[in-house]
Amino acid sequence: MKQQEVPNPWELVESEFHPQNYSLNATLFSLGNGFIGLRGTFEEGFDPEPFADGCYLNGVYASELITYGERAYGYARHNQRMLSVPDGKQIRLSIDGERFSLAEGELLSFERRLDMAAGILERNLVWRSPAGKTLELHSRRLVSLVEKHLCVLHYRVTPLDFDGEVRLISALDSGLVQMKKSDDPRLASPIDRRDIRTLESTAEGGHLALRQKVLSSDFTIASGVLHRIDCDGACEQSSQQGKERAAVEYRCMARRGQSIQFTKYLAYFAEQNRGLPDPAQLRDYLENCATRSFDDYAELQRRELDSFWSASDVEVRGNKALQQGMRFNLFHLFQSLGRDSRTNIAAKGLSGDGYEGHYFWDTEIYILPFFLYTQPQLARGLLEYRHSILDAARARARELAIKKGALFPWRTIGGEECSAYYPAGTAQFHINADIAYAVRHYCRVTGDTDFLRDKGTEIVLEGARLWLEIGHYNPRRDNRFCICEVTGPDEYTALVDNNFYTNLMARAHLDYACEVHDWLRAQEPQAFVELARRIQLEPEERAAWRRAADAINLPEDKALGIHPQDDSFLNKPKWDFANTPADHYPLLLHYHPLVIYRHQVCKQADVLLGMFLQSSEFTAEQKRRNFDFYEPRTTHDSTLSACIHSIVASEVGYPEKALNYFRQVARMDMDNHHNNTQHGVHTACMGGTWLCMVQGFAGMRTQDKQLSFNPYVPEGLEGYRFRIQFRGRTLELDAGTDRTSYTLISGDPVTIHHGEEILRLSEPGQPLVCKRESAEVYAQ
Ligand code: BGC
Repeated sequence: MKQQEVPNPWELVESEFHPQNYSLNATLFSLGNGFIGLRGTFEEGFDPEPFADGCYLNGVYASELITYGERAYGYARHNQRMLSVPDGKQIRLSIDGERFSLAEGELLSFERRLDMAAGILERNLVWRSPAGKTLELHSRRLVSLVEKHLCVLHYRVTPLDFDGEVRLISALDSGLVQMKKSDDPRLASPIDRRDIRTLESTAEGGHLALRQKVLSSDFTIASGVLHRIDCDGACEQSSQQGKERAAVEYRCMARRGQSIQFTKYLAYFAEQNRGLPDPAQLRDYLENCATRSFDDYAELQRRELDSFWSASDVEVRGNKALQQGMRFNLFHLFQSLGRDSRTNIAAKGLSGDGYEGHYFWDTEIYILPFFLYTQPQLARGLLEYRHSILDAARARARELAIKKGALFPWRTIGGEECSAYYPAGTAQFHINADIAYAVRHYCRVTGDTDFLRDKGTEIVLEGARLWLEIGHYNPRRDNRFCICEVTGPDEYTALVDNNFYTNLMARAHLDYACEVHDWLRAQEPQAFVELARRIQLEPEERAAWRRAADAINLPEDKALGIHPQDDSFLNKPKWDFANTPADHYPLLLHYHPLVIYRHQVCKQADVLLGMFLQSSEFTAEQKRRNFDFYEPRTTHDSTLSACIHSIVASEVGYPEKALNYFRQVARMDMDNHHNNTQHGVHTACMGGTWLCMVQGFAGMRTQDKQLSFNPYVPEGLEGYRFRIQFRGRTLELDAGTDRTSYTLISGDPVTIHHGEEILRLSEPGQPLVCKRESAEVYAQ
């Protein structure tokens, strides 16, 4: 959605209805609470765009056999596909026999507003029917952030110039219209509906329910609706019970100027191999929810969001569009995040079914830092999810002839590898190191040793064993430890030897494995003995990790002064960018993978990402040389790329580039830069927005237990402010063009670095101000 002006950066407003933006806006206006996700479609639907709808439950999927033309041993067998569950938003409206639809009649006014401080989507319109009757429609919707299973919709219809019959059919409908299979690997394939059995359909009074079983995955889904209607005139009610659809119809006699109000309480429950509330319990649940009004839930929602924003907001001064983009992205991250340690955050959140609802490394590298530094307990849940899928990761490792340890799936929901295209899937072994990196990051920032003892160490050690299994000491490389046949983050270069990122991250992983091994043995000997027994840890493994870490091969080209992305990258010809038409991007939709693979061309940051994550191992000069080399070879066809370029640009002294990348990142979905937001938001890029600000412009780094900043404000912005949590403390940084202030908001005194300065923050609420030019420190 192109926004010219942004009067209020807490809101996203659609002030004119453009049918061609319907699907895109269904993503942008989607609501979620980490469990339920509702696309931002109209209650009445919009016939020209039948595919735009979707209601999702995080972690709830159908399992389907992957059909290969040619199979080979160990290919992923099943895909797990996020389901669209029965649509309970549906309200069909007609007046005096004429169906309300924005595809017909005349729209006299229209506005849709997503209020990100309130967590409410609201729509106001005035419509004249083809027969010339005018009505006003006001609808509000929320997916409760406090009541995991609940959504509440409020609907008000007012005849403006007629007395007549208003007919409302409110449904719970599982007959979703699906798109056909496409060649775009980023889109979801259609679901075989035969896999979903409706066990029960109920329509009694204002109560509707559907109970369904997903045969392939053993999920049971219970959806229910309860209505409260408020109408002054006569109102008849009748139920419609179909196999896939339950509905209630209200026929109300309405008078000009008098409103009919309607509240719809919608609940979803889902369990795999476990009990669910029975129909009577579901009804009781809804009855209980319906003792509160929409406004009551709105109040609770607001309180929850107040606390979210007070911990997480990033104030961006001097550019309202970027401020809005930042808030929009953080809001969507909060809406998308699984909070129960059994679910995670999908590449498209709960806003669309692109990438089929799969979880990727996006979580650990791009998204987790935002939660870690703002609501660490939520970050812990993400890592606990990884622990919960360890058994599946062990089984996957065995399929790949890895005798010990675990191989985490490249993409999954329930834990099994779902990537059918292994060169850009399973071959991305770096996922193990990414997860270990996140465990280390989490433990450094929180000091949570309980997690490290109970789950973290196991994740790290089991993951680290992989490297010894797939790497080897290469006599032709001076016995350096080499890892062959892997794909790094850059998916335009596949199945290579010694991918720089993979080797660098593997080294850090092996290092950390030694560290946590020693820590557990010394600090929690009982837990160590139990873990060692459980995973059959051999005494010599630790030494083997140390040796491999010390001997790891990191490709380096002394003449160019850069780190080649892998052993073969520099031997390839550079992609002919000059003769690539603009409409041939993303390359993946226009060229066979082999054409792409044999060129020097990157989809996304790879070496630069490694240098950012292991920042202290490289000088600014090394980073700059690599930036200069890779940037012109990078298409940024992945939305995971621009944010890393922004951060590294900040660090190497390219503020203009840093800001330009940030502009794209912050408004990636709002401005639909990649032209596919209609299939869902890009959660990794949303996390990247926070990273650009906090780790890019403010230069925040965490080295061991030490926090450092190196803030600047790029020309074009006036400043920024954010809070972070660090080891039980809350700190605030406020950067202006000529000064930065640091405030300890709560918690014990702490020492931080500001550039070369060392600052002691000891008085809560007392800002320490550093002037930019002189870096002089004085108390205000
Ligand atoms: C990127 C991957 C990413 C995936 C899901 C792909 O386009 O290349 O790095 O994990 O999207 O966001």
